[in-house]
Amino acid sequence: MHHSKVTIIEHPIIARDLTILRDETTKTAQFRSAMARIATILAYFALKDLPLREKKIITPVTTASGFDINTEIVVVPILRAGLSLVDAIINFVPDAKVGHLGMYRDETTHEPVDYYSNLPDNLKNTLVLLVDPMLATGGSADDAIGFLKKQGAVNIRFISLISAPEGLERIQNKYPDVSIITAAVDEKLNSDAFIVPGLGDAGDRYFGTD
Ligand code: PRP
Repeated sequence: MHHSKVTIIEHPIIARDLTILRDETTKTAQFRSAMARIATILAYFALKDLPLREKKIITPVTTASGFDINTEIVVVPILRAGLSLVDAIINFVPDAKVGHLGMYRDETTHEPVDYYSNLPDNLKNTLVLLVDPMLATGGSADDAIGFLKKQGAVNIRFISLISAPEGLERIQNKYPDVSIITAAVDEKLNSDAFIVPGLGDAGDRYFGTD
């Protein structure tokens, strides 16, 4: 069966910063800055094959040809934790739109519960970058991708920081057209559906609500 592509981004800065994020003694400020640096590297790779359109410009010296990015981009964070990856992407593509999907995972069933959505119209001709630092059971990403497709999205890329094999497999099997970019594939899920070794609850640690 056809599987979607998973790209695991390796970089010494990511290795160092993942360690900071995983360490339980890391405080909110350090957690945020490590997240911001990793997000920048992930964003850089996620945007590596953007289509370009040639354009003519006039420099102070002569005429020259250059490039514009030839696609609309919508960044869609899964709230809350996905917000931690948005700024890094829109730093590179400041005209990107941002759509929001609110979901939390029920602590006993581990199933995602939707509480909010606000997406721009016309997702059809748009590159949709769905972002969430944690891909655990894959329930949230599964729901989010299903919803985006129902809204017309056809070109979806999922960016996560840490993925569990269970979540990766679920998304790869169900959505073979959605490529996945991640910084780490961890060992497994525990009985609370937390990623092991993981970093705990990314949203709580990023927003200081733990
Ligand atoms: C966490 C995480 C993902 C989801 C991953 O969100 O940020 O959205 O769980 O789990 P899954 O792959 O098993 O669905 P959480 O419920 O902690 O909400 P928060 O982002 O508001 O903290």
